[in-house]
Amino acid sequence: MAEAQGNIESKDFGIGIPQDSQGYYLKGAAHLDWGMKDRLARVFNARSGKTVMLAFDHGYIMGPTSGLERVDLSILPLVPYTDVLMCTRGVLRACIPPDCGKPVALRCSAGATVLKELSDELVGVAIEDAIRLNASAMAVQVYIGGEFEHKTIGNLVRVIDAGNAAGIPTLAVTAVGREMVRDARYLGLACRVCAELGAHFVKTYYCAEGFERVTAACPIPIVIAGGKKIAELDALTMARRAIDQGALGVDMGRNIFQADDPVSMIQAVRAVVHDDETPERALDLYQTLKSQSKGMVV
Ligand code: R5P
Repeated sequence: MAEAQGNIESKDFGIGIPQDSQGYYLKGAAHLDWGMKDRLARVFNARSGKTVMLAFDHGYIMGPTSGLERVDLSILPLVPYTDVLMCTRGVLRACIPPDCGKPVALRCSAGATVLKELSDELVGVAIEDAIRLNASAMAVQVYIGGEFEHKTIGNLVRVIDAGNAAGIPTLAVTAVGREMVRDARYLGLACRVCAELGAHFVKTYYCAEGFERVTAACPIPIVIAGGKKIAELDALTMARRAIDQGALGVDMGRNIFQADDPVSMIQAVRAVVHDDETPERALDLYQTLKSQSKGMVV
């Protein structure tokens, strides 16, 4: 029986040895069916193998978050520059034109808000509606170690089972409860649990120490959340480090839509993720684009 305490320290992460992707460009996806692979190829760019997902689902727990008061005004200008729209079905139907041509990672967990215990979630979207909306992935929040851990893991496996039947991949979102520490040990455990349970990719947080162990020990792609708004250079540096340490993209929200110039910021993030730019050069790009958009001479 596995225990939480007293185990031999994990150490053989094979850092620097990429996982063999066995004939498909995405790790852990070689043996999936055609429909799954087709949808994953909409999420992860086949040239770079990476993705810039735009997360704007915050309203489902936070209401009209800063930068998302009017999704029609703030998010639509970003749509051409994102690889994937991560949002709720409510905002998708109300604000996003169906002819925008972008794949959707549909937020499928629900049931809590910032006013109460966040981990007390349920499955909030029927598989039939995800199919109807042509979702390319379904996103489910899991609170490993949280008060309702058992319930959120139940939500995840139910969505994975329904998605497997329909050919829709599941994105497990590792939410970190207030009592948890965002270190490599915790994040590595949370991501690995999601992969073992059958998720197709995982969204987690970056940690400054040992993130390469988190990605190495997770046999499916990891994308990072941006978290609270930080300075543009810091957000670009975080994205650079995460990619260099094995993440296959970002699923970023506030650090894009709360930036001074969100349209320039998402292009700077793309430069880091898809074009291998340094954070400094991406920041230059951000400032140049921002000046141009404000009609200033640079
Ligand atoms: C939170 O409600 C959602 O899971 C967001 O999609 C997630 O936190 C990513 O957004 P951010 O980059 O703002 O952390």
